[in-house]
Amino acid sequence: MGSHGATHASSLAVGDEVEVDVTTIAHGGHCIARHEGQVLFVRHALPGERVLARVTETGAGERFVRADAVAVLSASPDRVTPPCPWSGPGRCGGCDLQHVSLPRQRQLKADVVREQFSRLARLDVDVTVEPVPGDDGGLDWRTRVEFAVGDDGRAGLRRHRSHEVVAVDHCRIAAPGIDRLRVTSRSWPGADAVDAVAPSVGEPVAVTVPGDEVPLVRERVVVGASGEREFTLSARGFWQVHPGAAQTFVDAVLEAAAPRAGERALDLYAGVGLFASALAQAVGPTGQVIAIESDAVACGHARDNLADHAQVAVLAARVDDAFGVARPSRRGSSSQRGSRPRKPSRSTLVPASADVVVLDPPRTGAGKGVCAEIAAMAPRAVVYVACDPAALARDTAYLADLGYRLDMLRAFDAFPMTHHVECVARFTRTG
Ligand SMILES: C[S@@+](CC[C@H](N)C(=O)[O-])C[C@H]1O[C@@H](n2cnc3c(N)ncnc32)[C@H](O)[C@@H]1O
Repeated sequence: MGSHGATHASSLAVGDEVEVDVTTIAHGGHCIARHEGQVLFVRHALPGERVLARVTETGAGERFVRADAVAVLSASPDRVTPPCPWSGPGRCGGCDLQHVSLPRQRQLKADVVREQFSRLARLDVDVTVEPVPGDDGGLDWRTRVEFAVGDDGRAGLRRHRSHEVVAVDHCRIAAPGIDRLRVTSRSWPGADAVDAVAPSVGEPVAVTVPGDEVPLVRERVVVGASGEREFTLSARGFWQVHPGAAQTFVDAVLEAAAPRAGERALDLYAGVGLFASALAQAVGPTGQVIAIESDAVACGHARDNLADHAQVAVLAARVDDAFGVARPSRRGSSSQRGSRPRKPSRSTLVPASADVVVLDPPRTGAGKGVCAEIAAMAPRAVVYVACDPAALARDTAYLADLGYRLDMLRAFDAFPMTHHVECVARFTRTG
C-alpha cells in the first residue's frame, strides 16, 4: 500500500507507491500493471514480476498513471544488472531496457510489433526481431548522440520525460568514436545541445547547437552489386544511428523489392539517397528512380551522392504535397473549425504509375492520403521501412483496404537497450 496514503483507484497521485503484478510489455518501453481498476505504465519492470511501483505522472482523465519500479519484489529470470549505472528510476531517460537480457529485449520488441498489428491492423503476424549484424552485446553502437547542455554549460543526457540534464560520465550505448569526443567532460557555454557524430569514414565530430557552420560527414555502405558507395551528409542530417543499420536495411529493401532492370521505382522520405542509390543500380540506366525528400539540405546531398545515376530525379518536397494530398489538420487550425484543409497540386514530377515504391517515413508514418496515392500508382511491390510499429500497423490497415496485402515482415534490433525497433514490410497487390 502507498507510503503516501492514497490507494484508491482514481486517486493514485504522483509519489504514491503500490505493489503490483506486471503483466505485459507495451509500446513505449514500459510494462502494464493494474491497481484497483487503474492502469499503470511501469518503467524498469518486466512481465511476470511483482514490483513496488512509484507513480511519476498521472495521465489525462486518470485512466492511467506512469510509474517506475523502485523495488523488485519478485524478479523475472530475464532481469540483469544494467550495464549502465546511469539507467534506472529517476536517472537518464535514454534507455528503457538496460535491466533486460538482450535476447529477452528482442522477444519483448517482437511482442510489441505483434500487438500493434493485432490491434491496429487486425492481423496476426509472425515476427522475430533480428540483431543487426555486428552488434556486440547491445552496447557501444550509437553513432549519433544529442547531448543536452545544462545552465552550467555541462553536457549530459535528459532524464526521462524531463528537460533536466543528467550528468552522465559517458553513454554506454554510444560508439567508441563518440566517447573519444569527451563531450560530457568538457564545458559548452552558450550551447543548448551538442550533437556528437561518429561516421563510418573520417573522424568523429561534435557540433554545438546553436552553432556555426555544420560540418559534413561521410558514410560508407555496400549497395547491391555496385559495391561500396560513400554518402556525404550534414553532421546533423538523418542517417541510421546503428553502424550496421544502413547496410542491413539496404540489403533488406533490395531483397524485398527485387527491383528489375528498366523498372520505375519511387524512394519516398529519401534522406540523402541511401535506398535511391540501391534502386538506381538495380533498375539500371533504362529504369527510373524518383526520390522525394522534404529537407532541402538533404536533397542537395542526395543529388551529389546520386550524381552518377542519370536515371534518378530528386524532388525536394513533402511527400503529401508532392502527391497533392491535403495535410492533416492540426488541433485548433481553421480546418478543424469547418473549412477544408488546403489541397496542394500534385507535382508534375510524380508519375501516374510505378513498379516499386519504397517508403521510410518518420515516426508519424505515411498516413491514409499518401497510402491511397501509393496504391493508385499500382506498384507490384511496396516496401515500407518503419521506425514506429504502431504507424506501420495503422498504414497496413489502410493499404489492406486499398488492395495491398502484407506478405513479408522483418524486424531489426537497430536500437538495443531502448524500446525502439525497426521494421521492413512488403505489400503486394491482392487479386
Ligand atoms: C527515417 S528518415 C529516412 C531517410 C532515408 N531513407 C535513409 O534511410 O537514410 C525519414 C526522412 O524523411 C524526411 N521527411 C520527414 N517528413 C517528410 C515528409 N512529409 N515528406 C518528405 N520527407 C519527409 C526526413 O527529413 C528524413 O530525411
